[in-house]
This record gives sequence, structure tokens and C-alpha cells, in this order.
Amino acid sequence: MKVVSLISTYILLSLVALSTAQYIRPPKRGRISIPSFGRDSSTPAAQQVHVTLAGPNRMKVSWMTMSFNSPSTVEYGVASGVYDSAATGVATSYTYFLYKSGEFHHVILGPLNDNTTYYYRCGGIGPEFSFKTPPPAGPHVPITFAVVGDLGQTEWTQSTIDHIQKMDHDVLLNAGDLSYADFYEPLWDSFGQLVQPIASKRPWMVTQGNHDVEEITFIIGPFISYNTRWPMPYNESSSTSNLYYSFEVAGVHVLMLGSYTGYSQSSPQYSWLQADLAKVNRTLTPWLVAVLHAPWYNSNTAHQGEGDAMMAAMEPLLRQAQVDIVFAGHIHAYERTTRLYLKNPDPCGIVYINIGDGGNREGLATEYINPQPVWSLFREASFGHGEFGVLNGTHAYWTWHRNEDTESVSSDTVWITSLSSSTLNCSVSSSSRIAAAAAASSKEPRDL
Ligand SMILES: [Fe+2]
Repeated sequence: MKVVSLISTYILLSLVALSTAQYIRPPKRGRISIPSFGRDSSTPAAQQVHVTLAGPNRMKVSWMTMSFNSPSTVEYGVASGVYDSAATGVATSYTYFLYKSGEFHHVILGPLNDNTTYYYRCGGIGPEFSFKTPPPAGPHVPITFAVVGDLGQTEWTQSTIDHIQKMDHDVLLNAGDLSYADFYEPLWDSFGQLVQPIASKRPWMVTQGNHDVEEITFIIGPFISYNTRWPMPYNESSSTSNLYYSFEVAGVHVLMLGSYTGYSQSSPQYSWLQADLAKVNRTLTPWLVAVLHAPWYNSNTAHQGEGDAMMAAMEPLLRQAQVDIVFAGHIHAYERTTRLYLKNPDPCGIVYINIGDGGNREGLATEYINPQPVWSLFREASFGHGEFGVLNGTHAYWTWHRNEDTESVSSDTVWITSLSSSTLNCSVSSSSRIAAAAAASSKEPRDL
């Protein structure tokens, strides 16, 4: 009997030890090596292929060729090797000091069927690629987003990409700081090649981060490389800038906002956001989410306050529109908050998720403000990615997957209910909105 008791105690203690074991965080890793920086001059074939949503039932295919005589044409069809449709688009290039880019081709395909795999080739030659279109529009249509930020191109980035590749997602949201080229343009090419295996298969929707600006005052304008390589569907959402736009997919309206262009009440972005939010129909798109780079709420010591001016300007607008979730990057760590408004928990407020832990070379932001604020529900400085799974018009799950070497481990999972289905009175008076917006700092960047 005593032996049985001892064994039981041992098992119990072992279980307690397991449940309280601290995760040992692995160190940052070096930049991954991409042959020829993703600019192979020996081939006329498409390189750095990626796809983007381009309006209802349309997808944009983008790629680079070293040849400037390659046609901007995509042939495609629903059977491998059978291309019964074709589309032609535009080509562009840029120079950056002594760097001369290849030619970037952007071609819009469509109308396309929903939830369908299309096979395609670029420029009239192989290799063949394939992508799957998103689910159909509809308020209760399930859809899964992969969510990343601050990817860069290290071995941890590769780990994150490998994990996403195994995940059955429909659309990827990227919260900015893509390549970490930081003025060394070949790193944009190697980043394009690094992400091609997933970015050629599912639409990548990006917004800009500070590392994407690359402006040299009076010499080189901002976002030259970013805008040339990653044109988003801003025309399709009545925006005049590639730095902010929106799109709708399944039952979700997604705002892609710009942290590094003007955002005050007098800015074009603010006017566009007001007009865009006025068009949102929560009956058709019950979910309303936003993606931006510099977080508005974060309890990490890194970059404190950098999102405050934008938050002061735009938080009332988003709160009034009953935005469900804001995804941000910039801080190289993961954090999730309770619903917040004006720095206080608010059942009608926004869930803030920081997902700037994609794997870049700068490593993790490991220092936190203590004690942990009451509004911070989960925080951890580890590399990883997010999964936002909308099940219907009311319920979605959020899972943060931590990279543990080669494994992707679900480390924070929560159910989220859309505010569109809330029975609370979530209206905000216009006077409080204007008063809060007027507090916006003059530190905002100029309009770009
Ligand atoms: Fe950043």
C-alpha cells in the first residue's frame, strides 16, 4: 500500500514539474543563404513569385525576371499543364544607387472561381506554380489566416515559413518589416525567393514597417523597393496609396493601415479610412480586423510609445466602427490583450495582438514592463506565427504557434466573438471621438 502511495506521489510530482517547466528559449540565428540572392542571371524563368488578392474573384501574380524582354503574361488553368486562360499586366523596375533591379511583372487574373486550385506559369515558360483561391464571400463562410510580422530572413524565418507551409491557411497577413534589407537591395531579392514557396501558393497581403521605408533624404524617396515589389490592391479599395488599403474575403473586412505615412485627421489616410469604414456592412462581413506595424498597446520595453500618435488619431475611429482585432508587429515578441479602448479594458474595445516575432536578425525583445498590466493577457518573447480561424459570423479562434526548433507548438489559444454579434451598446459619441483625435501628436510622418 505504501509503495503504491509513493508511486502515486512520484507521478503527481512529475506532472506538476512538467506543467510548471519553463520554456528554454533558443538563441537568435544567422541570416539564411539564398543562392545568387534570388537573382539568377542564367535563367529566363520567373523568380520571387508571389500572389495577392486583387479585388473580388481576382488574384495578382507578381514575379521578377533578370531579362527585360520577358512578357508580362500569365497563362493559367484548373488542370496542371493545361492553360486555357491568359492575362497580361505591367512591368516595372528601379535603381537604388548602384543597384539595378530586375524587371518586376504584375498581372491580374480573373474572374476566378472560389476555393479552386489554379496552375500557372509566368512569362510563357516554366516552371509551373499553383495557388488556391480563397473561400467565397459570405458572412458565415469559414476562412483561416496565417498572421506574421517582422519576418526578415534568418534560420528562424525559415522555421516560421516551414510551419506556415504545413498549415492549411487561405490568406497570409503580414504586419510589416518584410525583408530587413535595410538599404542593401539584394536582400529584397533573396527575401522574395525565400518566401516564394508559400507566397506563390496563397495570397500575401502586406503592410509596411519601418525597415521597408529605406528613404535617404533628398536623394532617394521612401518605399521605392517596397512599392515596386509588393503592390497591394489599393485602387480596388479607393485608396490613393499602396501604404494603406482594405480588402474583403469570406466574411472579413481587413484594414491594412500605414504606420509610416500620415494618419492625422487632416491626412489622406484618415479620410480614406473614414470613407472605407462607412462602406463596411457587418451583415455581409461580420468580422472587422486591422493590420498595422507599430503597436498601439504593448507591455514590452522595446519601442514604447512609437504607436501613440497614430493611436490617438485613429483609435476612436476603429472603436466607433467596432473593430474586432488589431494585429501589429515591430516588437519582436508575442502579446495578446483584453478588449481595450483609451488604455482601459472595454467590452466594446479592440483585442490587440502583437505578432512581430517572425524571426528577423535583430532577435527577440525580451524585456517587459513589470508588473504585467491588467490588460495584457499573454506575453512571451519567442519566435512564431499566428493562426486566425474564422468559423462563422460570430466565432473565431486565435492561436499563437511558438517555434520550438523544428516544431510548431500551439502556445496561446483563445476564442474570440465578433462585436457585430454583441448585444452590448457599443456606440461612441462623436464628441469624444473628435476630442481624442485632436490629441494626435504632430510627430506623424508626412503623407507618402
Ligand atoms: Fe519595425
